[in-house]
Amino acid sequence: MTGPRVPALLCQVQNASVKFGAATALDGITLALSAGERVALIGSNGSGKSTLLRLLHGLVRPTQGQVEWALAQDRLAPRQAMLFQRPYMLRASSLTNVALGLWLAGQRWGDARHSAMLALQGVGLAAQAMRNAKTLSGGQQQRLALARAWALQPDVLLLDEPTANLDPHAKQELEALLAQLASPNRVSLPKPTTLVFASHNLGQVKRLASRVIYLEHGRVLADLPTASFFEGPLLDTRYPAAYAFVKGETA
Ligand SMILES: Nc1ncnc2c1ncn2[C@@H]1O[C@H](COP(=O)(O)OP(=O)(O)OP(=O)(O)O)[C@@H](O)[C@H]1O
Ligand SMILES: [Mg+2]
Repeated sequence: MTGPRVPALLCQVQNASVKFGAATALDGITLALSAGERVALIGSNGSGKSTLLRLLHGLVRPTQGQVEWALAQDRLAPRQAMLFQRPYMLRASSLTNVALGLWLAGQRWGDARHSAMLALQGVGLAAQAMRNAKTLSGGQQQRLALARAWALQPDVLLLDEPTANLDPHAKQELEALLAQLASPNRVSLPKPTTLVFASHNLGQVKRLASRVIYLEHGRVLADLPTASFFEGPLLDTRYPAAYAFVKGETA
């Protein structure tokens, strides 16, 4: 007998805080991430979005509380990849930039280059495969960074303002790639990638996210499905801070 499919729990953050010296970047965060979600982190500068992404990726440790990733059946932990706001590129070809990650993950060099080429094709950079990655434009570097993450076939992709520096066309392209990556119907990979992304672009949040987490001073002040967040009647009464933020951003 099969009941309704319950999405697998990927990660549980339990009352986690992160302090940098005397400054509190995250203050008692509790949330759960399930497979297939597309979670947007929003909030003003310094509210803790990047720190939360880094905490999820294991780049910072909680000074209190815990972050627990569920064990996947076929591997030790869900595979995560993170995209930073300014992607770091090695002074090497685009192909090598992608292949190195795969090689470091244990693939043979020949296989790594083959998979890297497929990933470059996936983001529309096949023609730039042999170009020095440092000479690519900002938008191309963002797509290259996405190819690098994509090639690893992560279960979870963490993205810190992935389109912040892109022109409208490049932004649209990257959004389309992310939507494709997260789509349950895609053909290129066996299962959709769970996305967690920080964004200052509320239009993008509406287009891409299934769930919105609003942060303020390192705390989660609202955590709602996207439709309820933007259209629900309760935002102004139950979550006045989030409401004021959304109103301010869209004014
Ligand atoms: N490495 C660090 N050392 C000291 N303080 C830090 C460090 N990283 C973050 N902080 C502080 O933690 C708080 C949260 O920063 P964070 O970068 O997570 O905010 P953010 O929501 O990503 O902001 P933005 O929208 O500007 O990217 C800020 O007050 C910031 O100054
Ligand atoms: Mg940030």
